[in-house]
Amino acid sequence: MARVFSGIQPTGDMHLGNYLGAVQRWVAEQDERDAIHCVVDLHAMTVAYEPAELAERTRRTAMLLLAAGIDPERTILFVQSHVRVHTELTWVLNCVASFGELRRMTQFKEKSEAQDFVSAGLFDYPVLMAADILAYDVDEVPVGEDQRQHLELARDLAIRFNHRFGDTLVVPRATFPSVGARVKDLQNPTAKMSKSSESPQGTLLLLDPPQVITKKIKSAVTDSGTDVRYAPEEKPGVSNLLEILAAASGTTIEQAEADFAGSGYGKLKTSAAEAVVEYLRPLQDRYEELARDPSEVTRVLELGAEKAEAIAEPVMARIRAAVGLLPRS
Ligand code: TYM
Repeated sequence: MARVFSGIQPTGDMHLGNYLGAVQRWVAEQDERDAIHCVVDLHAMTVAYEPAELAERTRRTAMLLLAAGIDPERTILFVQSHVRVHTELTWVLNCVASFGELRRMTQFKEKSEAQDFVSAGLFDYPVLMAADILAYDVDEVPVGEDQRQHLELARDLAIRFNHRFGDTLVVPRATFPSVGARVKDLQNPTAKMSKSSESPQGTLLLLDPPQVITKKIKSAVTDSGTDVRYAPEEKPGVSNLLEILAAASGTTIEQAEADFAGSGYGKLKTSAAEAVVEYLRPLQDRYEELARDPSEVTRVLELGAEKAEAIAEPVMARIRAAVGLLPRS
């Protein structure tokens, strides 16, 4: 079975982009893949954050993954900082990555522009991400479109490592969903939907109550004209709604487009809102159940870390030997 690995930041409240771009597939592929997924708390430390909130956000993100249908019997679910190999391998890969290639990462450029203080950790973010993946001999990494460049880097580092130190690392490849790989902000449909959006109205959170979801979708920015058509360049707002509707109701964009040909934006918005509300209902119900038993997620994550470590440690041992470090015993 192909092994998949992916990660998500512990914002504590996942948005629809995370779900459609990535998490939905993590759930759907559990039977066909050897699956490992991780809440990346160390990545969250690369920009300003509130230490008193990080642990709780990490727990809540893990609970959301369980509510979304991640089954700890079939998927290894764990917290990045619980497995030390991630940081150790980051150091080794730091010595394989070049300053120049990291400086060219577009997410670093964008994020560093928005910060007063740019940490070295933010610069190194993609190397930590490569370490996450390369520590597990991973074949596929299911992600949204915004992670494409980071995945290219992880591949490049694995190839360069193997070239320099001998065949040691599995070279992973990114996979993207056919619908929902780049969900846009409802208020600014040329930007991706993101937790750090300037307008919270533009981001649909998975735990938003039905009336909030409906309000956000009904006030989505649309485009000039009146026809419902999928044309991301010309009609970014309408195209985003069509994509959300298609993903939430399990159809294709072409089908959604055909269904709404001749109707106005109002009808499209009403239907998209209904589809998203129904789509998220089971997840919201399960989240409420899980919230009643907080010890469950602690247990899952503890077991997940043990299983993850059992895979990553032997890979790291191989890497230490390949780079020529003196064995401890
Ligand atoms: P993060 O936490 O920002 O997002 C988690 C996943 O959601 C996808 N995503 C989107 N997909 C479609 N439309 C959107 N608007 C949207 N916003 C987010 C992301 O592509 C991602 O798949 N660096 C990563 C986390 C990470 C990781 C890893 C991923 C750390 N280590 C190793 C894969 C493998 C991140 O910040 O994702």
